[in-house]
Amino acid sequence: MSDVVHHESSENRPAPAPIPHELRRTDIDARAARRAERQVATMFALSALFAVLFVVSFVGIDPEFEMGLPVIGTTRPLNIAMGVCMGLSILLIGTGAIHWARKLMPDVEVVEERHDFASSDEDKARLAETFGAGVEDSGFVKRPIIRRTLLGAMALFPIPLVVMLRDLGHDPDPAGSLKRTMWRSGMRLVTDSTHEPIKADAIPVGNLINAIPDGLVELEEEEGNLNERAKAVIIVVRIDPADIVSQQGGTAEEPWDYNGVLAYSKVCTHVGCPISLYEQRTHHLLCPCHQSTFDLADSGRVVFGPAVRRMPQLAISVDSEGYLIARGDFAEPIGPSFWEIAQ
Ligand code: FES
Repeated sequence: MSDVVHHESSENRPAPAPIPHELRRTDIDARAARRAERQVATMFALSALFAVLFVVSFVGIDPEFEMGLPVIGTTRPLNIAMGVCMGLSILLIGTGAIHWARKLMPDVEVVEERHDFASSDEDKARLAETFGAGVEDSGFVKRPIIRRTLLGAMALFPIPLVVMLRDLGHDPDPAGSLKRTMWRSGMRLVTDSTHEPIKADAIPVGNLINAIPDGLVELEEEEGNLNERAKAVIIVVRIDPADIVSQQGGTAEEPWDYNGVLAYSKVCTHVGCPISLYEQRTHHLLCPCHQSTFDLADSGRVVFGPAVRRMPQLAISVDSEGYLIARGDFAEPIGPSFWEIAQ
């Protein structure tokens, strides 16, 4: 074990006095050290056990099974089991490592004097020697039970992350489902806050409304499908038709807007942040994450920032009552551009 080294950091400013080293119980009592060793090993072993239990619950509990619990309400035991097992597995590796460091690893303060940045061969040799001594002192070599349980816990820890990939297999066409949203021809646009249908004529020029497809809330409540919202959310803006430079599709007779009301995806094409920062004078939509900026009066073109793809536009119209409706799904994938690559 190294001794405390005390030196002055400069001529004018003496280094603070070293903290006196107090021996811990595990430094002087071999039985206490062995007990701490067993405690650390137990935590690592339990961590590995919870990683295994995670896999068992993932495979063995019916994902559709629900039950009522006080305070929480109706919930799925699978989610609770997976969360508890994963949390305890991580927690026990962490607490085991902390307990090991506090009880068994050397806790002597060492002050290193700074010299020139380039190390001499002598220094390098001394560093290698110190590193070897540190490994020895840590007990990683001489405490095989801790070493083995730690390696076991670390080896099993990634397994829960791998088995969860199974959930990607439910969709026969996962890449395709990333490219589709629930928007369909004739589906009304409703506000994201009140779920009310939106009257085209009620939107003033310069306004922005966050909207979702009619029926999305029912899909979430009845079927527990929380994936569609991430893809289907849109923003609706009204721009003076004279200011619209271009649109992503449509014809002069049937443009994709309705009297200057335009709908765009709300999901940034850079890495998918939701956007609603709109500057009505310039018609620019600004993503708060990395400042990508899109011109909504010019086909959602990227005018600044790391995004490389325009913001996808949703073709809209109105129904017989004047409410905004979609004319189909997006013509191109929404969100980050790597979704396009997964074709
Ligand atoms: S996610 Fe929008 S700029 Fe990065």
